[in-house]
Amino acid sequence: MSNFTAFVQLAAAVIVGMYFFTRIRTESADSRAAREESKVEAEKLNALRRIHLSEPMTEMSRPGHITDIIGQEDGIRALRSALWGAHPQHVLIYGPPGVGKTAAARVVMEEVKKSPGTPFGKNAAFVEADAAIMRCDERGFADPLIGSVHDPIYQGAGAMGVSGIPQPKPGAVTRAHGGILFLDEIGELPNEQINKLLKVLEDRRVTLESAYYSRGNKNVPAYIRDVFENGLPADFRLIGATTRRPERIPEAIRSRCVEVYFNPLTRADIVRIVTESAMRCGVAIENGVRELIADYSSNGREAVKLLQSSSNLARMEGRAVVSVADAKWAAEAGRYKKRKEPFLKENEKIVDISIIKPK
Ligand SMILES: Nc1ncnc2c1ncn2[C@@H]1O[C@H](COP(=O)(O)OP(=O)(O)OP(=O)(O)O)[C@@H](O)[C@H]1O
Ligand SMILES: [Mg+2]
Repeated sequence: MSNFTAFVQLAAAVIVGMYFFTRIRTESADSRAAREESKVEAEKLNALRRIHLSEPMTEMSRPGHITDIIGQEDGIRALRSALWGAHPQHVLIYGPPGVGKTAAARVVMEEVKKSPGTPFGKNAAFVEADAAIMRCDERGFADPLIGSVHDPIYQGAGAMGVSGIPQPKPGAVTRAHGGILFLDEIGELPNEQINKLLKVLEDRRVTLESAYYSRGNKNVPAYIRDVFENGLPADFRLIGATTRRPERIPEAIRSRCVEVYFNPLTRADIVRIVTESAMRCGVAIENGVRELIADYSSNGREAVKLLQSSSNLARMEGRAVVSVADAKWAAEAGRYKKRKEPFLKENEKIVDISIIKPK
């Protein structure tokens, strides 16, 4: 009997031992395979990071200082005064495409950071977001503008998911905390997002909720508890830019912002933009190229693009200097429209001067 018991015990011990031995072997093989795979992926990522193309001309010619923004003196003045000093305001910039709205906001921010009493720190954020892609899905699983919560049911096997802990994901409004949120094409923002944004502007923080959050759950890390109890910080100034007319922007947004108008560019403005872009990008141009480019471009972005195409064409064909014929060919090949109407003179802006509307 005792021999039989000893035999059963031995057999059980062998079976349990084999079970654990096999399990340990499988697990270590799995983790070895995972380590190998992660090493290969890390090498691929590093190889990608070692590849750099040259800086695009659009980047090189980007205005770096307020004085580089051409033809928008009133708009710049209005924008600077709205953001200047101790009490910067929210701003809406109206204007046609490609006339310097985004470029101006960037350089003005650099300047107002140095204004007396400004609440913006030296490293204050300037977060650019495109309202057209700031849509959230209906149930709010992902909201790149406001922020969202990843509930455990969707997190799967991650550490937080397994422990049933909801994970807050900050959005652009929190990344802009302490600085500027530049929302391009603000007119494209869906109504639901506009309402959420207005609430954040009011509260200066984002409140997140989750059915999975419970105060009593001791597993919830302190910072997640803090987020659910006190919200995520989102104290920023909004600069919304739009190519739409003011009456097509929701009144609720308009009434909270100083409204600033950027002008269509005159022919003389575009000639200057081409001159300065050519200098910044080290492109030599023949006499008459600037005027020809101005004849074919309705805004600054088009002018810079056409200068780049003309310069590439000249380089490809071995010419160091861009000729009028190069620019004309590039304009016609690219189906740029030649302006029929006479260009405005410097003092004949279509849109009225920029105004500051009191809150
Ligand atoms: N007024 C300007 N002065 C100098 N450069 C300009 C001006 N307007 C446009 N540019 C050139 O065109 C580029 C694009 O301009 P920007 O992105 O600021 O236009 P935008 O008004 O924001 O256009 P969109 O409405 O399409 O967003 C700039 O980086 C700059 O090179
Ligand atoms: Mg823009």
